[in-house]
Amino acid sequence: IRVLSVVSECVPLLKTGGLADVAGALPAALATRDVHMRVLMPAYRSIRWRLEGMTEVFYEEDLFGGAGRVFAGTIGGIDMLLLDAPHLYDREGGPYSGPWGDWDDNPQRFAALSWVAARICRQGLRGGWRPQVMHAHDWQAGFAPAYLAFGGPTDVSSIITIHNIAFQGWAHVDLLDTLRLPSWEFHPGSLEYYGGLSSLKAGLVTADRITTVSPNYAIELMRPEYGMGLQGVMASRADSVSGILNGVDTEVWSPEAEERPYSFDHLRGKMENRRVLCEAFDLEVPGPLVIVVSRMTHQKGIDLLPEVLPEFIEHGGGVAILGAGDSGLESAMRALELRYPDRVGVRVGYDEGLSHLMFSGGDAVLVPSRFEPCGLTQMYGLRYGTLPVVAQVGGLADSVINVNPASMTAGVATGFTFTPTTADAMSGALRRLLQLWNDRDGWAQVQRNAMRHPVGWQASAEAYEALYRQILR
Ligand code: ADP
Ligand code: GLC
Repeated sequence: IRVLSVVSECVPLLKTGGLADVAGALPAALATRDVHMRVLMPAYRSIRWRLEGMTEVFYEEDLFGGAGRVFAGTIGGIDMLLLDAPHLYDREGGPYSGPWGDWDDNPQRFAALSWVAARICRQGLRGGWRPQVMHAHDWQAGFAPAYLAFGGPTDVSSIITIHNIAFQGWAHVDLLDTLRLPSWEFHPGSLEYYGGLSSLKAGLVTADRITTVSPNYAIELMRPEYGMGLQGVMASRADSVSGILNGVDTEVWSPEAEERPYSFDHLRGKMENRRVLCEAFDLEVPGPLVIVVSRMTHQKGIDLLPEVLPEFIEHGGGVAILGAGDSGLESAMRALELRYPDRVGVRVGYDEGLSHLMFSGGDAVLVPSRFEPCGLTQMYGLRYGTLPVVAQVGGLADSVINVNPASMTAGVATGFTFTPTTADAMSGALRRLLQLWNDRDGWAQVQRNAMRHPVGWQASAEAYEALYRQILR
């Protein structure tokens, strides 16, 4: 099966969050199942040098104010298609925003990506490759299934995957023409969204199938607390919605591949890593060392830490935090560090290497999200025997089995879950963690369960392949 994946970020080229990890992992996971996936993404300035040595496979003369060219090449084993449109992507800054906030022309920038995707589905690339399935990701590719659908009958089927419904790709209704959308589609059953446009909604109403990154989030999305305005749209398409839990790259995320390797029957390396981690953060922690690796935003519940940590620290715990984002949250974390210099360590920034050391050396990983479509760090935690302590939402609820008498007796517990996402509930979970910490055999058992829990891509790849086959025309 030939699949065109349409996405705004992809590891190893560019990453702001889990979306890039997933986009980068899918092609290899699917390759073993006879699915040939090519990934189309914008050639932002920071990755434009990658175009060198690549071949031009597609040309579009008028792409919202300039020409667009697609170049093909392989990058880290991925069959990559980079859309070069300098008037849209060749600028200083991030993929979505510059120094003064979101780019004003984001609707055009990502409509362009989507437009080209739909054209490739109809025309194919120079050299003859044409997809059978279009797989669009998130709001940035939301218009892709819409352009495909509005362009008349086609033999290419489409899927849109929601990685985070909080980002909806809002655009002013005045852009309808500019974005080459048919005005007769501007009604509540189609493109209209609270008086304007939403590229995500456009994708949700036009794609053949909708997937999201965990089964639990697929259900949550039909409720107002999680659907964020799109719950009605989701409910109206309930028959076409499914949840497929993400995997993680088990070669990149493997305790056996770390500098001080370990496995569940040789945990000495983990103790070594803990020592190095404490040194790196200047910590002295008698009890469990919890780590947090996260974007610092309201979604992630980091704001609850100042209320929760004092009690945990009093009972011997410590915390190492790595993250960047909201400056208010960053300074709140720094204030905690100042207050408890031996017990709280904070690094503001993005640091892949340090995050590996943290998962290798931490005893537990805290993920107190208010909502979490899937979440990847709890899965790294499982794999590294760094017990996940997670809010019971979205994919977190689908990937962690709470320690309780039943799960301990059955021998299946892998971590701690709490609900709702409040300081109280989180404190309760940390108390349960301290309790297990004092029961060395119990802790070892849960650690073993966690490390054995499959977090690779195999099951998900199988599910995606099945879905592609179902909708093939
Ligand atoms: P989201 O995509 O909502 O941010 P995920 O858990 O799906 O959440 O993915 C986050 C990814 O980004 C994980 O791979 C995580 O390890 C990584 N990450 C987040 N913040 C940092 C950071 N400051 N340094 C290194 N890696 C980070
Ligand atoms: C989004 C979600 C996260 C998910 C990731 C990859 O960034 O916030 O929960 O793991 O996409 O699907």
